[in-house]
Amino acid sequence: MQIRNICCIGAGYVGGPTMAVIALKCPDIKVTVVDINQDRIDAWNGPLHQLPIYEPGLKEVVAAARGRNLFFSTDIDGAIDCSEMIFMAVNTPTKTEGEGAGMAADLRYFEACAKQIAKVAKTDKIVVEKSTLPVRTAEKIKEILYKHGKVDVHFEILSNPEFLAEGTAIQDLFKSDRVLIGGDPSPSGQMALKALVEIYDQWIPREKILTTNVWSSELAKLASNAMLAQRISSINSLSALCEKTGADIDELSKAIGMDHRIGPHFLKASVGFGGSCFQKDILNLVYLCRHYGLEEVAQYWHQVIKINDYQKSRFAQKIIDAFEGNVQGKNIAILGWAFKKDTDDSRESAAIYVAVKLLESGFNLKIYDPKVQKNTILNDIKNLIDTRNPSSLVKDWVNKLQVKNSVEKAIENTVSIAVLTEWDEFKEIDLSKSSKVFDGRNVVSNSNSQYTYSIGKSVESSSSK
Ligand code: NAD
Ligand code: UGA
Repeated sequence: MQIRNICCIGAGYVGGPTMAVIALKCPDIKVTVVDINQDRIDAWNGPLHQLPIYEPGLKEVVAAARGRNLFFSTDIDGAIDCSEMIFMAVNTPTKTEGEGAGMAADLRYFEACAKQIAKVAKTDKIVVEKSTLPVRTAEKIKEILYKHGKVDVHFEILSNPEFLAEGTAIQDLFKSDRVLIGGDPSPSGQMALKALVEIYDQWIPREKILTTNVWSSELAKLASNAMLAQRISSINSLSALCEKTGADIDELSKAIGMDHRIGPHFLKASVGFGGSCFQKDILNLVYLCRHYGLEEVAQYWHQVIKINDYQKSRFAQKIIDAFEGNVQGKNIAILGWAFKKDTDDSRESAAIYVAVKLLESGFNLKIYDPKVQKNTILNDIKNLIDTRNPSSLVKDWVNKLQVKNSVEKAIENTVSIAVLTEWDEFKEIDLSKSSKVFDGRNVVSNSNSQYTYSIGKSVESSSSK
């Protein structure tokens, strides 16, 4: 079966880049990315320097394919109708209410898409799960598709989780470690699976395209994120021990990572992992383990999140303690808001948690990030304050912070600096006027201030570097 038309529902951090790369690599396939968010679609169709997400290399890919075989639209029904294969790349956040609130994945957007596909489809469709989902979601989706679909329309469901990381999405998509496709063992399931393999086969070496059953594919995505996050929590837990003992976390990471059985990646100590997926996906895994009665397994994975919360809180407390609690009205510069460099995404960024704790303790904040918009920063703070403490002590927080548009403006008239994202431009900041530096990413290279705290280094050794 040859695919000529693809539709992707969800034009976000996954739908946009993945479909742009498929369109670039498969010029014979028409790819239409649809979304309910008109502003987002307008931005995808707008100037290349103002695409709705910042991702290095993305604008070049969009420039090459947009208008040729890559289209962005809000006509969801039209795109479903014309496509043989439909990817679902909508958001699956943590549930905030109802059964499983705070842990389980909220599948309402995903299920709404399935319903819409069922209602619109007049011909057979291959439906591809691109979003990250709890294991056995395909079962539920099949139920929805057949309940709401026309009697003579056949649906085949594939799982094709996405492994790209923000900031490196385009290179990850060009040279994936693996592409995972899960399909039903039936002849029609295997035919659908083959159709998707042939698409990736246009640019991914065949030995890197792994085919499995649907459940292994769904679970492998959650498990991969859990294993990656676990490494960060492991190294971050050891960073606390380094600070007590005089061991140096970077030396430790290097020494551990040189063992080829462990490997060097994802051992960079930090103020804590952020992003829209690690926390949500591990909580989802914990919830699934509980659902299946595996309490010990649930607790094991939950600890990865608890160490991450501890690391964020520990970092903010280090700052407060360095002033012996005497922080009322003092200015501190917050450098970096994104959850990592090379993205404008700040979802679940450690910076939000650190900033709110500093505001609660009495600091005034001067915040700078090269890519995150001022409104996003303000909303992030507001949302966290609202969820934590509706009648908060930091009611007048808006007057206690300023968002600046350069490092220089952010550090002007501050007593100290906290680096929360590892943006390259922070590596060479002039710190000569800052009395205290708190490096949450261990990137500041020329600290000559009187006091420097770096994650996983004792203050004496940090300050004398
Ligand atoms: P996102 O919030 O950036 O994008 C999701 C889009 O779906 C939004 O634009 C939203 O308007 C749209 N949408 C929601 N309901 C819709 C509906 N019924 N019809 C049409 N459009 C609808 O999310 P994202 O970061 O792209 O993540 C999407 C999925 O991919 C999630 O399950 C996530 O866990 C997974 N994932 C994300 C990443 C990442 O780096 N962000 C990587 C791998 C996997
Ligand atoms: C992560 C995974 O790496 C992707 O494979 C996956 O597809 C994606 O989640 C997802 O499912 O959404 P992402 O969250 O975009 O990608 O970014 P990462 O590079 O994994 O970084 C996550 C967080 O961990 C960042 O805050 C980063 O600063 C932190 N981190 C990463 C560390 O603190 N130390 C490290 O050594 C590595």
